[in-house]
Amino acid sequence: MSRFVNSAGPVAGPTGQRIEIAVRALGYRPNGIARSLVLKTTHTIGLLLPDITNPFFPSLVKGVQLLANERGYVVLLCSTLGDEKSEEEYLKLLRAKQVDGILAVGLVLHRQQIERLAATGIPFVSLDRNIDFPGAPLVQVNHRQSAMLATQHLLALGHRSIVHITGPLRLRVSRERLAGYLAALARAGVKPVRRLRITGDFTEESGYRDIERLLAESVSFTAVFAANDLSAIGVMAALKRHGRRVPEDVSVVGFDDIHLAAYTSPPLTTIQQPTFEMGRRAAQILIDAIEHGPPRVRATKTVFDGKLIVRGSTQPLRGG
Ligand code: RIB
Repeated sequence: MSRFVNSAGPVAGPTGQRIEIAVRALGYRPNGIARSLVLKTTHTIGLLLPDITNPFFPSLVKGVQLLANERGYVVLLCSTLGDEKSEEEYLKLLRAKQVDGILAVGLVLHRQQIERLAATGIPFVSLDRNIDFPGAPLVQVNHRQSAMLATQHLLALGHRSIVHITGPLRLRVSRERLAGYLAALARAGVKPVRRLRITGDFTEESGYRDIERLLAESVSFTAVFAANDLSAIGVMAALKRHGRRVPEDVSVVGFDDIHLAAYTSPPLTTIQQPTFEMGRRAAQILIDAIEHGPPRVRATKTVFDGKLIVRGSTQPLRGG
């Protein structure tokens, strides 16, 4: 009966037929809770994300989900909006649901809070953005090297007055991209100008607003490196609104390579993050930890290289 009900394998002949008739007649369904108690696993993992409205995240989730399903797990997706209270509530829920492991993208909670809220000893893996949970393996793109790539692309086109619109500087990924931008300028012998660095928040609105402010103050620049594609899209809209052509007057580079980047006008030059692969890898590391215990060799970081995707939003500086 158990083999039949748990699809553990075919039950041949008349016995199988009799069981099937009984199961259908009784409308019997396996009790997931009872099953979990016996097997001491729910085959469920939690995935905490800060902002499901950002088109960067769906591909990351898909990578997690497909790998998890291949390994016989389901994923509980929790959108925390980057809010501490919401993160607390979701960690309590995941503990109550007895998930087997947790994937987290940039929690604002500190280590002590996470330890108090999450089930003791539950495996954690940090994905894309860092979390304050030392020892949790981290899977992400090389944010600093990728930002250097973006800035070096503009420098190679002859640009020297290059604006950088950062992500939220409370996030380590934003600070690492800013460091990459500054390192590329330094390596090219270009003195950084403080007025050309603006703190953004990864939204189209911040990109739009920040460029409007620079134009209103008659700040001179010929290129913009925005810390993600959404803010780059806002930058291009503001430039157009104020009569600046992209790329003829101003070249623009983003970061992420969301699916829309190829369809903006002009198509956006950007840094491609291998989001689907990162999601798969993070899920694989987490499920291995669930099934085999933490890795003997603490593989603390798995870092992917970003890739420069050149499209129509950048061109050489006019006049050489
Ligand atoms: O666009 C959202 C940004 O936040 C991406 O660059 C990604 O790295 C995430 O952390």
